[in-house]
Amino acid sequence: METTPAVGCHSDGSARYPTPLDAVLRRLRCPLCDAAALQRNTDTLRCPAGHSFDIARQGHVTLLPGRRRHRGDTAAMVAARESFLGQGHFGALRSTITAFAVEHTPRQDGLVADLAGGTGHYLGAALDALPGAWGVTLDLSVAALRRAGRAHPRAAAVGADMWQPLPLASRSTDVVLNVFGPRTPAEIDRVLTRDGIAIVATAGADHLRELRGRLGVVGVDARKADRLRHAFAGFTAVARQQVRWRLALEPREVRALVGMGPSAHHVDGDHRDRVLARLPRIVGLTAAVDVVVLRRDATRGAG
Ligand SMILES: C[S@@+](CC[C@H](N)C(=O)[O-])C[C@H]1O[C@@H](n2cnc3c(N)ncnc32)[C@H](O)[C@@H]1O
Ligand SMILES: [Zn+2]
Repeated sequence: METTPAVGCHSDGSARYPTPLDAVLRRLRCPLCDAAALQRNTDTLRCPAGHSFDIARQGHVTLLPGRRRHRGDTAAMVAARESFLGQGHFGALRSTITAFAVEHTPRQDGLVADLAGGTGHYLGAALDALPGAWGVTLDLSVAALRRAGRAHPRAAAVGADMWQPLPLASRSTDVVLNVFGPRTPAEIDRVLTRDGIAIVATAGADHLRELRGRLGVVGVDARKADRLRHAFAGFTAVARQQVRWRLALEPREVRALVGMGPSAHHVDGDHRDRVLARLPRIVGLTAAVDVVVLRRDATRGAG
C-alpha cells in the first residue's frame, strides 16, 4: 500500500521536509567518525567521509559504530508493549511526562529525543503537545523502530545503542526522554543544548510489588534514586513527581505487562503460564513511577 510521506514545517517557517528523518538530519551524526553533516541520497545516509547507512523500507535508519552487540527487545516483547500501552494503562505516566516536557522545554520548536524509546509511546504524546517540535526515537530493537517510525508524523526512528556514543550531534537536543530504559548520562549531557532538559522515569520502590517473586518481576534497588542523582552530577532536578495509580488487569493483560518487561528475557514460559492460570479474574496492582526533570547546570557554560 502506498503511504503519503509526512510533510512538516520547521520553526524557521521556510524549510519543508518530506520525512521526519530529513527534518532531524542535521541533528544526527555519523557513528563512525562523529561528523555531524549527514546527507541523504534517496535510501541511504552518507557522511562527508563516505560512511553510508541504509534507510529501511519502514523509514528508520540504524547508526551503530560497529557490529550490533545487543538486540534490544524481541518482536514479541514489543508487540506486548504496544498492546498494553495502547490500552492506556500507563496514561497517568504519559500525561505527567508530557506536562513536564511542555512546562520545562527550553524552546517550543526544538528536538525531543526519546532514548531507548521503544515504540515511541511517550514521544508521540510529547510531540502532540509541542506542535512546533520534531522528535526522534532511538532504540536498538528493529521491531520497536518499525513502530516508532509510525508513532507520530513528526517523529523519526534511529537504531542506536545506549551503551555506546549516541548518533546525535553535540548540543543538538532540547528535551531527552528516558522511560524505563538504559541510559548513559555523559552522552545525555553531551547531546543536550546548554539549557536542555532530560526527563527520566524509573520504577518506584513498590512498582508492581504484587508481582514480585511471582512471574520473575524483579525488585527495585533501594539505592536507585541515589545512583541516579550521582550519575547526573552536573544537573539540577528542577521538578520531580512520583506518579502512583492502581491497575485493574485481566490475566491476559498481566501476561502482556510481564511480557513487555525485562523479566520476559529470563522467565520460563511454562512457569509463567501456570502462575497466570491461577490468577483471579481481575488483578489489582500498584503502579509507582518516579519522574524527574533534570536541567544542565548553566554554570558549566556552553561546553
Ligand atoms: C523497558 S523498554 C522501554 C521502552 C519505552 N521507553 C517505553 O517505556 O515504552 C526498554 C527499551 O530499551 C531498549 N534497549 C535495550 N537495550 C538497549 C540498548 N543497549 N540500546 C538501545 N536500546 C536498548 C529495548 O529495545 C526497549 O525498547
Ligand atoms: Zn563518518
